[in-house]
Amino acid sequence: MTTLTLTDGKIASAKVDALVVASTAGTDGAVLAEGTDLPKNARTHLTSNLTATGATGKADEVATFAGVPGVSAGLVLVVGTGKADAAVPDAAERYRRAAGAGARALAGKKSALFALGGAEHARAVAEGVLLGAYAFQTFLGEGKSSSAKAPLEAAQVHVKGRHKEDVAGQASVVADAVRYARDLVNTPPNVLFPESFATSVSKRAAGSKVKLEVWDADKLQAEGCGGILGVGQGSGRPPRLVTMTYKPRGAKAHLAFVGKGITFDSGGLCIKPGTGMVTMKCDMAGAAAVAAAVLALAELKVPVAVTGYLCLAENMTGDLAQRPGDIVTMRGGRTVEIINTDAEGRLVMADGIALASEHKPDAIVDIATLTGACVIALGNRTMGVMANDDELRERVTGAASLVGEAAWGMPLPEEIRGSMDSPVADLKHTGDRAGGMMVAAKFLEEFVGKNDAGETIKWSHIDIAGPAFNEKSAWGYTPTGGTGSGVRALIELAQSYA
Ligand code: BES
Ligand code: MN
Ligand code: ZN
Repeated sequence: MTTLTLTDGKIASAKVDALVVASTAGTDGAVLAEGTDLPKNARTHLTSNLTATGATGKADEVATFAGVPGVSAGLVLVVGTGKADAAVPDAAERYRRAAGAGARALAGKKSALFALGGAEHARAVAEGVLLGAYAFQTFLGEGKSSSAKAPLEAAQVHVKGRHKEDVAGQASVVADAVRYARDLVNTPPNVLFPESFATSVSKRAAGSKVKLEVWDADKLQAEGCGGILGVGQGSGRPPRLVTMTYKPRGAKAHLAFVGKGITFDSGGLCIKPGTGMVTMKCDMAGAAAVAAAVLALAELKVPVAVTGYLCLAENMTGDLAQRPGDIVTMRGGRTVEIINTDAEGRLVMADGIALASEHKPDAIVDIATLTGACVIALGNRTMGVMANDDELRERVTGAASLVGEAAWGMPLPEEIRGSMDSPVADLKHTGDRAGGMMVAAKFLEEFVGKNDAGETIKWSHIDIAGPAFNEKSAWGYTPTGGTGSGVRALIELAQSYA
């Protein structure tokens, strides 16, 4: 794994394999970023070579030069940060992405120094480096895959002067959390199933300030969690519900995070076509985000109590699989008519939300790869955010945007609810096809309980069906495969209550 240190030495004389600096997109091509602290001959050399190679300075562009005069490092990488006024208005995020692109380009190398942006961007650069230098190689045979290089070994981030914040420490905790979530998502579904997911989290929580409680199928039965049980009953690998409790002394607020943990979504009896099933190991990305975020918040000693609920099940087609037409009794006693067994996420999440409500937290935030409709509406990189409270929804989108996770607020119009009326149960779990992301959210809203004052608990729902898994090429600090979507947003959100 990549090590990270900070340095404020001269970047030109650093003894590293590679020096990484930034460019911006000027009207006539790439321009070496202002403030790049290199001797004049080095700057002139880089500037003319950027022009000669036709570099543009756009995001994800990495121009590599060897033997730059006045520079000790054998290689200089000039990474594009794009235009200041472009689609990514936040400078920190542009540097985070550029650092990630640089780190990816340095796979197989031993050491590099990243000198991008000012001291105020050091934290973002450090995160970008650690997130870009990620590779999931657990299942690669030793030396068999020639294309797979090990991530960059040692990264230094250049920061001028003194800094109050523990930049390297904070960035490492956050990046480690994202990387853990990615690992969980990338782990194949024959290896990661409800029981082994719970075991992984237990191991990682050992010695931390997070207490864990794991409910198996018998306990779920005794506790009336018919949603999770119904979804899990078609699999030989029974479901689990993991409750993670982090309760620091003098906590300023109490948040509940609920995560969808379908370790594989075949669709159940309403089976998915083969092409739609290939990426469905990612259907536990919400639970992965919750697990990673809660553990990180404890490590960061954030003075906010957080309870995480991981709703873990495998949606399969075994002889006991749930059928369309079944009526299940959910946690809290409400009955639900099963319509489409591929709408399994909302069933496991409803139990989790009902359980979370019983402890009357200040807010419940759930996160799930819930609907294909979210991908249709917002694409592959943006999470949809819904809520029963405008302020909370804005708080969630605000926290996500602040850390560079694209998030967009969606409404929850009242008329949607009617499409889930059932003639035989309290409600059915699917409704109109139109606005499918909001229909799913409206179903979840039904299971949000009341606080001691008799008011409905504030609740927000994050649909990460698009951004959780990157089927395309890597970009910025986002790799192919599991992305760790939502981890940093949840951490930032909890910190906003501190
Ligand atoms: N896990 C899927 C949603 C999904 C789709 C996640 C694409 C990531 C990428 C979810 O369980 C599902 O199958 N939803 C159905 C609901 C429908 C049957 C009402 C969908 O979106 O098609
Ligand atoms: Mn499904
Ligand atoms: Zn699913």
